Amino acid sequence: MNVTRERAAAVLAGNWLGASTVPSRGLYPHQWSWDSAFIAFGLRHLSPGRARRELRTLFAAQWPDGRVPHIVFDPATPPEAYFPGPSFWHAGRTSGLVQPPVHARAALAVHKADPDREFLATLYPKLVAWHDYLRTCRDAGGRGLVAIVHPWESGMDNSPAWDEALAHVPLATGFVRRDLQHGEAGDRPSDDDYGRYVRLAAAYRDSGYTAAGDFVVEDPGFNALLADAELAMAEIAEELGLPAAGHREAAARVEKALEETLWDSAAGFFFARDVRTGSLIREHTCAGLLPLVLPDLAVAPALLATATGPRFRLGRVHGVPSYDLTAPGFDAGRYWRGPSWSNVGWLVRQGLLRHGEHALAASLGEDLVETAVRTGFAEYADPLTGAGHGTRSFSWTAALTLDLLSEGNCDNRGFAPEPPSGS
Ligand code: SER
Repeated sequence: MNVTRERAAAVLAGNWLGASTVPSRGLYPHQWSWDSAFIAFGLRHLSPGRARRELRTLFAAQWPDGRVPHIVFDPATPPEAYFPGPSFWHAGRTSGLVQPPVHARAALAVHKADPDREFLATLYPKLVAWHDYLRTCRDAGGRGLVAIVHPWESGMDNSPAWDEALAHVPLATGFVRRDLQHGEAGDRPSDDDYGRYVRLAAAYRDSGYTAAGDFVVEDPGFNALLADAELAMAEIAEELGLPAAGHREAAARVEKALEETLWDSAAGFFFARDVRTGSLIREHTCAGLLPLVLPDLAVAPALLATATGPRFRLGRVHGVPSYDLTAPGFDAGRYWRGPSWSNVGWLVRQGLLRHGEHALAASLGEDLVETAVRTGFAEYADPLTGAGHGTRSFSWTAALTLDLLSEGNCDNRGFAPEPPSGS
């Protein structure tokens, strides 16, 4: 194994709990839903058995209604290590929110690395139930799109796209943030954002995790990943000798709804919609680029033009900025308000490959690997300087680095790590 792979593998080994992987030992000391899917993409190159275990552990915590919870709490981790912990959620050993559905794509990738029919056959009905939950219980707008009921469900917590919808949510008080013990305050969401997150989560909990409250949004990123997940389900069904057409139709329905209701042709971009007001939220965030993962996307050329234009400068900055570089609120180091995240870069790179943009995909892949290794597998990075931000030894950054190296599209050199801050 070369040096880069060894470093990435060491991060995943250090974050392995025995049946799942924590995103980060300090900041996120439990199992997170979409993190685990991205982690499985990397683990499959080290140990397909561990990759299967990762996904099986997550789906063992699936709710009877089909939802896959966004956090599965590790009983051996002290309650004060993370807030909001199990005593907040009143939901056994899980939270009651969800995260983007990247699991079917991950399960298929794990199977392709090491075919295991039993694994796929066991997971398939659970994935069907998960997608059914999203389709039937979350179509709050009646447009055939999933609505999220909390910013955490987007996976992009403090995205500027959520600011307006959050503005009228009262702040919760009387809780202690644990995240600031593990991250710079300037890299994390603000106290006001946190107060609103806690208030929204408590209201949803108190409704028995059924009633959408003050935040109801159709997110193009979440929905594009659901459409892609249904395309993966079609392939899984074919592997299992089951009918696949229904999955392709489900993917096409979501894609059509995305193009008909969230695409703005003048802007050349997919915007989120606030279901409560009915209005599009005209903020250019990286979620609006994620429909590029869909191979039949008719508007892909216009979306690619936006991606390579001044707002995201794809190919001329590090990774994929999480927010519009030209917006007054762009903040190069603060969580989802500007920095580049490796999972978004990895997804956009998949999209570039699916639309024939091989040179751009290759340079993005090389940059993702170089940035990950130089920053000690940082959680996110400044798109302009490449400096690492957030926590280090972050699992999905390491896992997706392994995946990129294993595809053979990137140089396998051992890159020099960033010097410790202050030196
Ligand atoms: N990402 C959230 C956090 O910061 C919760 O999923 O804890």
